[in-house]
Amino acid sequence: MHFKELSFPTNYIWGAAISAAQAEGAVHIDGKLNSIWDDFSKRKWNLNRKIAHHGISHKPLNSAEFYHNFKADIQILKQLNFKAFRFSTAWSRILPNGIGPINQKGIDFYNQLIDELLENNIVPWLTIYHWDLPVALQKKGGWVNRDILNWFEEFTQVLLHHFGDRVLNWMVLNEPLAFTAAGHFLGVHAPGKIGITNFLKATHHALLVQANTGRQIKNINANFKVGTTFSATYITPYSQKPKDIEATKRADALYNRLFLEPYLGMGLPISELPFLNKIEKYTKSEDNYAFDADFIGIQNYTREVAKHNTWMPYIKAGIVPAEKRNVPITAMKWEILPESIYHILKKINQYPNLPPIYLTEVGAAFKDTVSENGDVNDQERIQFFEKYFQQVLRAHQENYTTEGVFVWSLLDNFEWAEGYHPRFGLVHVDFKTQQRIIKQSGKWFKDFLKS
Ligand code: NOJ
Repeated sequence: MHFKELSFPTNYIWGAAISAAQAEGAVHIDGKLNSIWDDFSKRKWNLNRKIAHHGISHKPLNSAEFYHNFKADIQILKQLNFKAFRFSTAWSRILPNGIGPINQKGIDFYNQLIDELLENNIVPWLTIYHWDLPVALQKKGGWVNRDILNWFEEFTQVLLHHFGDRVLNWMVLNEPLAFTAAGHFLGVHAPGKIGITNFLKATHHALLVQANTGRQIKNINANFKVGTTFSATYITPYSQKPKDIEATKRADALYNRLFLEPYLGMGLPISELPFLNKIEKYTKSEDNYAFDADFIGIQNYTREVAKHNTWMPYIKAGIVPAEKRNVPITAMKWEILPESIYHILKKINQYPNLPPIYLTEVGAAFKDTVSENGDVNDQERIQFFEKYFQQVLRAHQENYTTEGVFVWSLLDNFEWAEGYHPRFGLVHVDFKTQQRIIKQSGKWFKDFLKS
């Protein structure tokens, strides 16, 4: 099937996405102070060997410099025919200490960005938190301190006050499982914390923030569209042995249900993950994880295969790496299986009273190379998108609909623990010269989205 045959509804939203820490650069200028990722990527002794081994180049500092290039980048976005843009606000650019005095230059930057988008008929979709907590708040415990509820409320209030006249679409958190599990249990993402207590506290607070902030935004203006985003992984068992099937259920509860079900008012998946019971200790009577959202954002990149593993603490399930399964993989070593999104949408649609779904990230990293004639011919990425969108349409035909897609990512960017090696962009970035080259996949979108 050729992409011309991919027929999405005419009012479908087509956007591209970036996040602040991954694309803005300019981490130490105009009043911005460090985020936990600026600090984490400097550590020589952290658990993340890739950042440590590649030294200074693998830091948010050296990214695509969107902060200085946003006008030109928005022109590219427009040229590629996207009508929406998902970006996040760097907390420590706006409130350098996390709370307290506002940095006017930070406000000015996002004001200019929003104005520029609107002048170019591109709708802004703002993610409040995409993993870059101010270091000043981390020093007070960050996500494991219940005060994060107040800090987050203050930050949100500042955003609403300054941008709420022009931004209508709000996403509270980006993939909370990543910054709680990778950042607070495994220690491989910032802030590099480990252990079950850190994980459970951070999880409890993130669950509260995603719901409380939704209510806060709606209280200011009921017309705002509010939701939050979730990672979603299609998980299948390694074998049909009952032990592997049970392990898959536990892995699914952790990967896919932990943040979504409480948000939908269904509570924590305690029966598959009994250790979550410990969260009760941190719970107060007023705590409420449920929020009647206007939409949810789903971000699916791959499929994982789960297997019983007695040694894996708490979930007794392990993931069989894609590399060992003899399947096609991306530069992230993630299995390429576009059907995953169909299965995810089918599964999520079993929930009652589901709000509309947006695919708030869709994309893949490949080893892109610039040819002698200056072209980046990323055919694998084009194939990925074609097949992925076919699967989204397959889901639509069965009434598992979505309202829009945000491609991850507009630009090659800082891929967290993986540094700058994996390139996800539709636009190639030379991180030394900041030169942009629209990849063939970018041109594919330009053609596909032309009206
Ligand atoms: C999810 C995250 O939101 C984003 O920051 C990251 O770059 C992509 N996945 C790819 O790993």
